[in-house]
Amino acid sequence: MTVFDLAGDAFFEDPYPTYRRMRTEQPAYHCPKTNLWFVSRHRDVADALARPDLFSSSAGNALSDSPLRVGKTLGSIDPPRHDELRRIIIRGVTPVRIELVLPWIRAELARRVEVLSPRRQCDLVTDISRPLLFGALGRMLGLGPDSARKASELSERLFRGHAGPAGPALAEDDRAVVIALLTEELARRRVERDDDLFSILIAAQAAGAPLSDAEIVANMMTVLLAGNASIGHFLPNLMHALWCHPDQRSRVMADPSLVDAAIEEAIRWDTSTQCFARMTSAPTEIAGLPIPPGARIALLYASANRDETAIADADRFDITRGKVRHFGFGFGPHICLGASATRSMLRAILRDLLVALGDFDIDVATAERVRHLMVRGFKSLPIIW
Ligand code: HEM
Repeated sequence: MTVFDLAGDAFFEDPYPTYRRMRTEQPAYHCPKTNLWFVSRHRDVADALARPDLFSSSAGNALSDSPLRVGKTLGSIDPPRHDELRRIIIRGVTPVRIELVLPWIRAELARRVEVLSPRRQCDLVTDISRPLLFGALGRMLGLGPDSARKASELSERLFRGHAGPAGPALAEDDRAVVIALLTEELARRRVERDDDLFSILIAAQAAGAPLSDAEIVANMMTVLLAGNASIGHFLPNLMHALWCHPDQRSRVMADPSLVDAAIEEAIRWDTSTQCFARMTSAPTEIAGLPIPPGARIALLYASANRDETAIADADRFDITRGKVRHFGFGFGPHICLGASATRSMLRAILRDLLVALGDFDIDVATAERVRHLMVRGFKSLPIIW
């Protein structure tokens, strides 16, 4: 039986050849080191996501989840409670609310580009992606400037792989600090209501919605941290994909109506959220292999997105591909709550960024990768223009 190296430099540099081998050689692979079952084929991922009763989220959807989250956040509960909670939380991320934050994003991007322009180089992660997207999500949530700054500092420690590439996204101590910070904000926001996610959840609670304080705080934490980790890492992946394909970058620059297609194809081709976890609630079988109950399953969305038995020529980045079924935003009851917010924010950013940076170059030799199985992105991505 093959043992796949899911922790080495080569894997983090480019995991797709390993995923391909997993799909052909062992589509349900039990990793002896982590005790996780990796599911890599498109059809098996789709089947699992269609059966939330059998592939449950109630033990958390991270490879290693936190008791501070499990059972309270959308990603760590099953229907029907999940659907009830989601109907409340989704009120905070309607297209109208996202529109409200776009002018700030564009103005902040312009300001940053102006400051950086004399140097004609920057780190896309720390100078643009993280501050911009963290600021935007902080605004959507309604965090005060102090809390937003503290949360942003903490988020820098996200997915650092401090306990290995399958370890917790954030150390438990840091998580407790975020919870304390959001609990303080909750008390403040009960008095100072505004037009943001915090206020919406407080108002829903006051109107009798079944939503505890612990659930408000835990879900705010998910939007703040998980939302940031995913979109903050994805913008560099998107720019990297366009840099790797200069012909397609030129087409997007010449025709901004292709921006949406470029975003969608990059989410399929090189998503920042490579996998999410489920736990089996009963004995089952995947790709002919018996799986016991209580097994922790890593659904490799990024591998399924490159499965050539479901998506033609799946390794090719092609912004003219048209609609295909991919799992960049998941599927089923847990499909990403922030997908339309993400698309709108990235559309606003990419249009302006390509105009500002033109034929930018990337210094791949000094770029640094995140080393975590769940998140693909860069810790640092130096660009020159
Ligand atoms: C490129 C950016 C993003 C990507 C690739 C992404 C990807 C995903 C994926 C794959 C899932 C499914 C998780 C699962 O199957 O267990 C998910 C769920 C979720 N996402 Fe995103 N996401 C992104 C941005 C965001 C943003 C900006 C927010 C916040 C506004 C957000 C909030 C959430 C929430 C709350 C869930 C849990 C939904 C549920 O369980 O019902 N995401 N995301």
